[in-house]
Amino acid sequence: MKFLIVFVALFAMAVARPNEAEIVRQDVDVAPENWSSNLEIRDGTIIVQEGVLKNVGTEHEAAVVHGSFSWVDEKTGERFTTNYVADENGYQPQGAHLPVAPVA
Ligand SMILES: *[C@@H]1O[C@H](CO)[C@@H](O)[C@H](O)[C@H]1NC(C)=O
Repeated sequence: MKFLIVFVALFAMAVARPNEAEIVRQDVDVAPENWSSNLEIRDGTIIVQEGVLKNVGTEHEAAVVHGSFSWVDEKTGERFTTNYVADENGYQPQGAHLPVAPVA
């Protein structure tokens, strides 16, 4: 549940932009043990998330979330995409623009 709250907060932050953000597509589907959402904004921002609860009803109950944020740099027109998995191993983002930790 903590993950869900964090992701709802991230989602809200992504949507709350200082200038008027026109939503061109928004789909939200929430079931008791899984959910998905898609949001596309006129400026090219795309936010996608799919989540599922696993080990429901056990002490190992956990949310597993797959998603991505993608946005276009206003100046260069370059698109940046971050894909992530968030699960019991933490938040694991991946993107061509993100640094990769050196192998220990
Ligand atoms: C949740 O899972 C059910 C069963 O697999 C599926 O039919 C449904 O589309 C899923 N819903 C979401 C929001 O992912």
